[in-house]
Amino acid sequence: MSVLVTGGAGYIGSHMVLQLCDAGEDVIVVDNLVTGFDWAVDKRATFVRGDAGDMDLVGDLIAQNGIGSIVHFAGSIVVPESVADPLKYYGNNTAASRNLLAAAVKGGVRHFIFSSTAAVYGMAGLTPVGEDSRLEPMSPYGRSKLMTEMMLADVAAAHPITYGALRYFNVAGADPAGRSGQSTPAATHLIKVAAQAALGRRDHVDIFGTDFPTPDGTGVRDYIHVTDLVAAHALLLGYLRRGGASVTLNCGYGQGYSVRQVIDTVRRVSGVSFAVREAARRPGDPASVVARADRIRELLGWTPQHAGLEEIVQSAYEWERALPARQR
Ligand SMILES: NC(=O)c1ccc[n+]([C@@H]2O[C@H](COP(=O)([O-])OP(=O)(O)OC[C@H]3O[C@@H](n4cnc5c(N)ncnc54)[C@H](O)[C@@H]3O)[C@@H](O)[C@H]2O)c1
Repeated sequence: MSVLVTGGAGYIGSHMVLQLCDAGEDVIVVDNLVTGFDWAVDKRATFVRGDAGDMDLVGDLIAQNGIGSIVHFAGSIVVPESVADPLKYYGNNTAASRNLLAAAVKGGVRHFIFSSTAAVYGMAGLTPVGEDSRLEPMSPYGRSKLMTEMMLADVAAAHPITYGALRYFNVAGADPAGRSGQSTPAATHLIKVAAQAALGRRDHVDIFGTDFPTPDGTGVRDYIHVTDLVAAHALLLGYLRRGGASVTLNCGYGQGYSVRQVIDTVRRVSGVSFAVREAARRPGDPASVVARADRIRELLGWTPQHAGLEEIVQSAYEWERALPARQR
């Protein structure tokens, strides 16, 4: 049966489409291109420009293509924007997911994989967070995702559908074969921003906060290579198809790196000592967010192939360097 990928023209979704097509799956992509690019969608997939929350559109696609599973990446992802415009996030993340789920249930879709986030944990503290840690999202973005997780649990209890909610930590890197990467010009991810600075496309990189209670005073995050992340989705899809029960899993390596360590790595990989500016902490930024990552390895047999900051940075830098030619 076919797989419907929402947001398949975006950063992570385009990598998922590559991996599903590589595995011989029949893939339909729905994306409204608010931040994605049609050229990022693998030509082996069928691309439909439209809204993931459009129940009529999705209902027709399910009926016409025999869709058995949905992998739902579509959404809005910028945390500060969610504070300034919360209704956009409750609309495009929570309400659109509600409509997508309604179409899925009506059309008899059996499995649903959802892009959740470590932002559901909020101020995580200095020790790694497990799936059972307290859920205290600090932003409308995190709450819009947590509400969707709750909705999924209720829907799966009432209808014959199973789901996996994957809580991503900091996704970074690019397809090792150079077929996709993070392409949004205004992306705020640190590794992308630093790669842009190394290539002379920004004049500096800001470090927000140098007085956190971390080894070098800068924020610590768990960076996961996008190719390992989508491999976890593929394993999860296989697990659900074999009859596995609904599950919520962290997606991280369980290894944190500080902002300074990331900047040093980008400088080393690029050979460019770009400027860095120290700035105040941003409100609500936790000192450290690192996954407890054993559950996903045990349940799915997930074994990361691209862990390590150097490899993540190298692939992101190569992608950034090649991007202008792609976008022409
Ligand atoms: N990038 C990260 O580090 C990270 C971390 C945690 C969670 N996530 C989640 O992963 C998912 C994908 O993130 P990304 O980094 O690839 O972002 P992205 O902006 O590159 O991709 C999102 C895609 O969804 C599309 N889209 C948005 N709203 C839509 C709608 N209503 N209908 C159809 N298409 C729509 C966009 O055009 C884009 O192609 C998001 O749900 C995000 O919340 C990302």
